[in-house]
Amino acid sequence: MNEDKASRELIILPDADSLARTAAERFIALAKAALSERGGFRVALSGGSTPLPTYELLAHEQLAAQVDWEQVHFFWGDERCVPPDHPESNYRAARAALLDEIAIPLQNIHPIPCQHPPTRAAILYQEELEKSLGPGESFDLILLGMGSDGHTASLFPGTAAMAEQKRWVIENYAKRLNEWRVTLTLPTINRARHIMFIVSGAAKASTLARVWAGEPLPAGMVQPASGRLTWLIDQAAASDLRSTEWKNS
Ligand code: 6PG
Repeated sequence: MNEDKASRELIILPDADSLARTAAERFIALAKAALSERGGFRVALSGGSTPLPTYELLAHEQLAAQVDWEQVHFFWGDERCVPPDHPESNYRAARAALLDEIAIPLQNIHPIPCQHPPTRAAILYQEELEKSLGPGESFDLILLGMGSDGHTASLFPGTAAMAEQKRWVIENYAKRLNEWRVTLTLPTINRARHIMFIVSGAAKASTLARVWAGEPLPAGMVQPASGRLTWLIDQAAASDLRSTEWKNS
């Protein structure tokens, strides 16, 4: 069941496996298009557990062989303020699932430097993005997940980072988790050429219905200015959607 508006689409897959495969295939298609059109592909990975099967599929030879990884640069949409070898690190998880399995130069991997305190890490990452993306540029693709409270990246409902309009990257204290995070800000996310949500499981169903109904949760405020927005969800996550009609938040 697809709803395809001018710049946004909703694709509902039968289960988590077909969701992961579709996400991986779309990633490869976007990478190939960017490489042929612009000679490079800058992607910000999502953290959390949902995208890990997709990352593992991307490392699989049939898919990995289709991309010249030397022209791809990996970034992150957010990071937990833990060392890079910590079990909670999004960087560590992506390295294990994908980056250590493909022929990508180390200088093409741009982790959020959370070995520094949160504010310093955010400032350093903004400098990295300004250097890597260039003025007025943005990511070719940002992968995002959604928490059951409607957060995305580390933009949690009611937190200070939600209001940031100038900085590209900001430190954010997640009170519910009692932990500091570093995250891309909403304006930075909304400048991307393509944003792809990957959301799986019945635990997300009620929140997804709230987002679809236009409730201004962080995930629902991801509405790219001119880029394309794709929501890839499985049937379990879609189970509370009364309609696929999209209401703006
Ligand atoms: C993080 C993510 C976060 C994640 C959601 C969903 O650092 O945790 O960036 O935004 O996408 O919390 O997480 P799951 O995929 O594990 O449900």
